[in-house]
Amino acid sequence: MSVVLRSIASYIPQNRVDNQALAATLDTSDEWIRSHTGIGARHIADDGVLTSDMAAEAARAALAKAKITPHDLDLIVVATATPDYFGFPATACVVQEKIGAFGCTAFDVVAGCSGFLYALDIASSMLEARHGRHAIVIGAEQLSRVTDWQDRSTAVLFGDGAGAAVISRIDEGGRGCLAFMLGADGGGARDLYLEQAPRTSAYERATPIVPKIVMDGKKVYDFAVKSITVLIERIMHATAYRLEDFSWIIPHQANARIIQAAGKRFGIPPEKFYLNIDEYANTSSASIPLALAEMDAKGLLKPGDLIMLLGFGAGLTYGAAVIRW
Ligand code: UT7
Repeated sequence: MSVVLRSIASYIPQNRVDNQALAATLDTSDEWIRSHTGIGARHIADDGVLTSDMAAEAARAALAKAKITPHDLDLIVVATATPDYFGFPATACVVQEKIGAFGCTAFDVVAGCSGFLYALDIASSMLEARHGRHAIVIGAEQLSRVTDWQDRSTAVLFGDGAGAAVISRIDEGGRGCLAFMLGADGGGARDLYLEQAPRTSAYERATPIVPKIVMDGKKVYDFAVKSITVLIERIMHATAYRLEDFSWIIPHQANARIIQAAGKRFGIPPEKFYLNIDEYANTSSASIPLALAEMDAKGLLKPGDLIMLLGFGAGLTYGAAVIRW
């Protein structure tokens, strides 16, 4: 028995905001954004749409593809840095109600942009420990809600969306989640965080929290390149696979230059990395499942393909997964 990724699906808001549209209100340009990040556009959730709505849409599509019903689910894990409610209840519980998966275990994982990989490892470990048969793992973000739209150094980077994977403990000879590697460096916690004004007086505590993203881009950039390098080396060492055994490497989509730098380090041809940052920008924990869903829709993932997922982000966290598709 192994834990197999049975289906993958996504929800992308229709509202597409390209770089020119941002340049109309911010001191930036399409040229700067593209040349520094590889981003051409981002999709922004409509007013009234919550993280759980996008997560539920992606989940329904993934369940339909896997041909299982919400009642078959034993577990829902949502990775998000932008939950419907900061603190509690878990967005996974809201999603459970929205898709009608009553009674199953549901909780959130907070691990920044590595969230989907953390959630996938936790969910597959729980299935392996026989806490059920079917789980849905969702990465969903409404980063537009915590973006400081006056800060050009971060406003151009992020987008909204959700991706969901149905995983099942079944016997499908050789397929499945083969290896995970997770890590964190809390020393960099303040390099990328949600700033909330200090609330010391009773008056301040009475006003709602409006968090916004603050990032030391240079530090996170260096961390990201180092993390990818270390993760690839460790995965090779732990699994004895060679780079040429992998059909695809699917990284967190934060900056095309980060991927190019890591690729150069190992001499990996650029076409082995799947990138869609041009269209969706950085969607944090949604970015890896969004990329997988797009690849699946394009028929790029063939049964038996060996793929590597790589994540890095707030925490600072990092993670990798090796999957036989
Ligand atoms: O998903 C979580 C992980 N996140 C990441 O991995 C992000 C990692 N960091 C990065 O991707 C890059 O550091 C950024 C894309 C955030 C920034 O790129 P950079 O090449 O490091 O630019 P910079 O911050 O060094 O800024 C260079 C210049 C500055 O101007 P001066 O000081 O040289 O005059 C900035 O003020 O570019 C300026 N700048 C901009 N100009 C036009 C910064 N943002 C913009 C902008 N438009 N949007």
